[in-house]
Amino acid sequence: MTYQEFYDKSMSSPQAFWKAQAEAIHWFKKPTQILSKDEEGLDRWYEGGMLNTAYLALDYHVENGRGKQIALYYDSPVTGRKQAFTYEALLEEVRMFAGVLKAQGVQKGDTVIIYMPMIPQTVIAMLACARLGAIHSVVFGGFAPHELAIRIDDAKPKFLLAASCGIEISKVIDYMKIVNAALEEAVHQPDGCIVYQRPQLTASLKEGRDFDWESLLSRAQPADCVPVEATHPLYILYTSGTTGRPKGVMRDNGGHAVALKFSMDYIYGIKPGEVYWAASDVGWVVGHSYIVYAPLIHGCSTILFEGKPIKTPDAGTFWRVIEEYKVKVFFTAPTAFRAIKKEDSRGELKKKYDTSSLDYLFLAGERCDVATLEWCGELLQVPVIDHWWQTESGWPMLANMVGVEVLPIKPGSAAKPVCGYDLRVVSPDGESLPANQEGAVVIRLPLPPGCLPNLWNDTARYLSSYMSAYPGYYFTGDGGFIDEDGYVFITGRIDDIINVAGHRLSTAKMEEVVASHPAVAECAVIGIEDQMKGQIPVGFVVLKSGIEKSEEEMEKELVQMVRTKVGPVAAFKKVAIVQRLPKTRSGKILRRIMRHIADGKSFNPPSTIEDMTVLPELEGLMKDKHIGHSAD
Ligand code: COA
Ligand code: AMP
Repeated sequence: MTYQEFYDKSMSSPQAFWKAQAEAIHWFKKPTQILSKDEEGLDRWYEGGMLNTAYLALDYHVENGRGKQIALYYDSPVTGRKQAFTYEALLEEVRMFAGVLKAQGVQKGDTVIIYMPMIPQTVIAMLACARLGAIHSVVFGGFAPHELAIRIDDAKPKFLLAASCGIEISKVIDYMKIVNAALEEAVHQPDGCIVYQRPQLTASLKEGRDFDWESLLSRAQPADCVPVEATHPLYILYTSGTTGRPKGVMRDNGGHAVALKFSMDYIYGIKPGEVYWAASDVGWVVGHSYIVYAPLIHGCSTILFEGKPIKTPDAGTFWRVIEEYKVKVFFTAPTAFRAIKKEDSRGELKKKYDTSSLDYLFLAGERCDVATLEWCGELLQVPVIDHWWQTESGWPMLANMVGVEVLPIKPGSAAKPVCGYDLRVVSPDGESLPANQEGAVVIRLPLPPGCLPNLWNDTARYLSSYMSAYPGYYFTGDGGFIDEDGYVFITGRIDDIINVAGHRLSTAKMEEVVASHPAVAECAVIGIEDQMKGQIPVGFVVLKSGIEKSEEEMEKELVQMVRTKVGPVAAFKKVAIVQRLPKTRSGKILRRIMRHIADGKSFNPPSTIEDMTVLPELEGLMKDKHIGHSAD
């Protein structure tokens, strides 16, 4: 079947299409409905079905002869450790840790926050929650205590799972210091914390609150799988929205399992038994879907890599991993390749390794520039597939579905809509635009299985963020266009979300922190293009009158404030003091125009602008301070 035939089938009879795909996973009880509405009128997949995601990821394979196959390779250049778990061994670990949680009273429907680095215990913890029907929420390690506290207060976890530390190249990050500060700030207090002590740093445990992971494990009894409804939440993953408050993207069990299994077959073209590697972090959606759940549900071997593309120990580390584990399909963010290219532009280190096991390289997480795409292709001699998706979708929305048919690659485009996604590019009034005209990228409802069915405890925000701008359509937040051959080009976010080194961040959040500095009268934080990280945030501040602080002093203080309040991952390092900001007559800051000036792009100032002379003034200032394209 061609891609077009397969895609058309998913569009003409979605229920029959997704009913057939649901046959690929094991159900304790088959769904009674394929697509239905919940009590709030929202679309839900596979109502009536009963399953367990951890069962699909582990028990099912052990029961069907895959027990001795490696399920998880842990490769940690930052500690020098390597470990391999067969499906049998990983199941045993998960059964026992689920027993630990159960003994602490964690049960179906309880929430559990996981604040842990890239170690096997994190994967075990996620699967143990899934086994009990508990809902995990993994928080990325690069966030500051305040961000963790916000998530604790929103998810209201029964338990918090943590490790004593994370390791960033050679820096040891004290995770319990962050947890302690977050719990001091949070209103909600979990029943307790279970702490995994790593040899690099021993955390001192708080009597009555903290439990030692290993000692609980030594007394644990194994726990069985709890069958859950297809619509029961599997996890909550917080992601940046356009306000300072993150959005709790919810994922269900049934639609998620079906969609991920489908994606492995038809998007990634990988078979059970083969090795799949997503070099990302379990704190992001890529880690949830393609380090943990999809490879295991599909019966692949997955790799948990605790390192960076460079400096751990060098820019050849990715090629070493591909050779060592015979990786078939590799997935990472373009920024990782830009970092490698900067250190080893001629690919000398690649020559030391045999990467011939590799069939495809998939890139996502941010826009992939053509130069990087071409460099990767030449270096690895495999098709480089740019594909597009987001935390909300949980799996790709645009891709070259190589498991169905390999379409010709058009650099700059993430190819065509994946089955189930009725993607349109529309004008501000919701009209579909003709070929090559840029507009908002939307998906006609219903979204396919696996996509967010709602936000955690916030249906109103779900509707206002995604469903109200274009009634009948889900608004992705991205802009783009479709060319005459049906290839979609994503041109970037059209809201205030930025993508720094593949990490999604909110400039509104950073602005909130900058604005709270006592010397700041007003400010704007914008994301500007950066050769390595894709985008970086820059703050423009107007000081209150009478304040005599130097730009260096202000920059130092504001950078520290953003690190403390948002986290180092924000990579907020540059601040410029300006006399005024460009605004409309009604006082709205023209951030988009500031971005265009920084990126050297043409723009039409709106007729509502308060004072046109601010624009050349700003352009001159950026040039003087080496901000944006003129810095190159
Ligand atoms: N825990 C604690 N701190 C973390 C962290 C974590 N899990 N992840 C990042 N940080 C910190 C870093 O130590 C760094 O702190 P610093 O300012 O004190 O140096 C800061 O956050 C920024 O980190 P990072 O974004 O990793 O930038 P970098 O300059 O250290 O490395 C890259 C650049 C490109 C090598 C790196 O960003 C990378 O590997 N990106 C790929 C991203 C990716 O896989 N994204 C997933 C989507 S597919
Ligand atoms: P996240 O939710 O962190 O996965 O970030 C999702 C956002 O990253 C999307 O809305 C896009 O703006 C951007 N993005 C992800 N993949 C791509 C891609 N292949 N091309 C362009 N932008 C992308």
